[in-house]
Amino acid sequence: MDSPWWRDAVVYEIYVRSFADASGDGVGDLPGVRERLPYLRSLGVDAVWLTPFYPSPMADGGYDVADYRGVDPLFGTLADFEALVHDAHELGLKVLVDVVPNHSSSEHPWFRDALRGVGRDRYLFRDRPNNWQSTFSGPAWTQSADGQWYLHLFAPEQPDFNWRNPEVHAEFLDILRFWLDRGVDGFRIDVAMGLYKAEGLPDVEDQAFASVSPIWGRPEVHAVYRDWRALLDSYPGERMAVGEVWTDDPADLALYVRPDELHQSFNFSWLQAPWSPAAFRKVIDDTLKTVPFATWVLSNHDVVRHRTRYGTDDPGTGLARARAGLLMMLALPGSVYLYQGEELGLPEVTDLPPESRQDPVFKRSKGELPGRDGCRVPLPWTPDGASYGFSADGVAPWLPQPDEFRTLNARSQADDPGSTLEFYRRALACRRELARSVPYALEWLESPQGALFFSRGSLTCAVNCGSDPVLLPPHESVLLSSGPVEDGVLPPDTAAWLRTS
Ligand code: GLC
Repeated sequence: MDSPWWRDAVVYEIYVRSFADASGDGVGDLPGVRERLPYLRSLGVDAVWLTPFYPSPMADGGYDVADYRGVDPLFGTLADFEALVHDAHELGLKVLVDVVPNHSSSEHPWFRDALRGVGRDRYLFRDRPNNWQSTFSGPAWTQSADGQWYLHLFAPEQPDFNWRNPEVHAEFLDILRFWLDRGVDGFRIDVAMGLYKAEGLPDVEDQAFASVSPIWGRPEVHAVYRDWRALLDSYPGERMAVGEVWTDDPADLALYVRPDELHQSFNFSWLQAPWSPAAFRKVIDDTLKTVPFATWVLSNHDVVRHRTRYGTDDPGTGLARARAGLLMMLALPGSVYLYQGEELGLPEVTDLPPESRQDPVFKRSKGELPGRDGCRVPLPWTPDGASYGFSADGVAPWLPQPDEFRTLNARSQADDPGSTLEFYRRALACRRELARSVPYALEWLESPQGALFFSRGSLTCAVNCGSDPVLLPPHESVLLSSGPVEDGVLPPDTAAWLRTS
């Protein structure tokens, strides 16, 4: 029997606000996504994940949901969503949507009721706050008009649900059903390790993300995912769920992907690893040892783009490493999550004017933390126009775009064999071809200082993270490389796929 589609799928994250704007208001939307589905098909991905497009006051870019069963007019209509799913399926693309179960918007009818004293137990109200801090900086508690305080692990506009109240549990099962009935192939679960907090909400000594603490990764959360799995399994067509689980312990991560829980969880240790063969090897070994089906991710809408992470001082080095990193990631067993714009080699935009920044992290830290706007700059599609083809002509995008988008846009890169876009297309096509013949198991080969060589059947991947060129291992042919490879020599910051017998 064929293995389920998600086990080795390449999923492309669409941060909807910044992907493509069809309505001409400067903000990306669902019709914009729909128009660009052929681009994604030709890029060669298997699925898209749409970040929240639900009605929202947009205090956190839509991760503050006021109605879990609708579409915000900023992003379109439910009919637009249905048309998008229809077209995606016609093109053979699966569609995942984001579900945000840790908190709602403060504009959600339940929270408005709670403020009036109705159904307050759906949230976490207390007479006195504890010492927890919000992930977006500042205290995690805000006082309501009648004197009680409510918990928000993120912005004050994002009150945390009380998952010990069965009504919350039932409501989310119903929300999942709503979208499953509209044909979605699965869910990305926001803050999947955060739903339950320790009874009594005790003070903490150190609030850094940890495997199990009073705040994150409570064992009670697993019963929720067992129920969600049963629901997903009751639908035809291998519907799936991937959890956003931040933890520093791979064994803890493994708990979320037990056979009766989530299908996948993001593997953030991969994007946290520095450009170092030892660090990469450790993450690969830990991952393959602990989870049944691995996932890999280098960038998303919450982290500095990996081109910039890998080479802050020298953009050329950053891009070379980003391309090599992609090839290494695509050679690993399991599934891969890409973030929009990485196929164009986009860097983090680090010089956004403070007045244009919109991330609550920037605002709440009073500008001390830059926040995440730098990886959310609207995509460039064409070399000209007020927004490089993101919006209608003459319309300014919701965040300003840098001048280098004049060359980094999709149209300028299309059909240029040296471009990052064409490199991604080739790599994804090659991976698709190899998928059937390459086994899951990975074998390490002896490699020179600074390099990593591994093989899966007849595919060998060689990556040079060091500063000196290295000799490639024995091979029949070079299938693909992230930079020039000549005479059997792999230059620094370069990766190659080799066919071996
Ligand atoms: C997740 C999202 C992030 C959001 C936060 C609160 O980490 O990826 O963008 O700000 O949850 O919902």
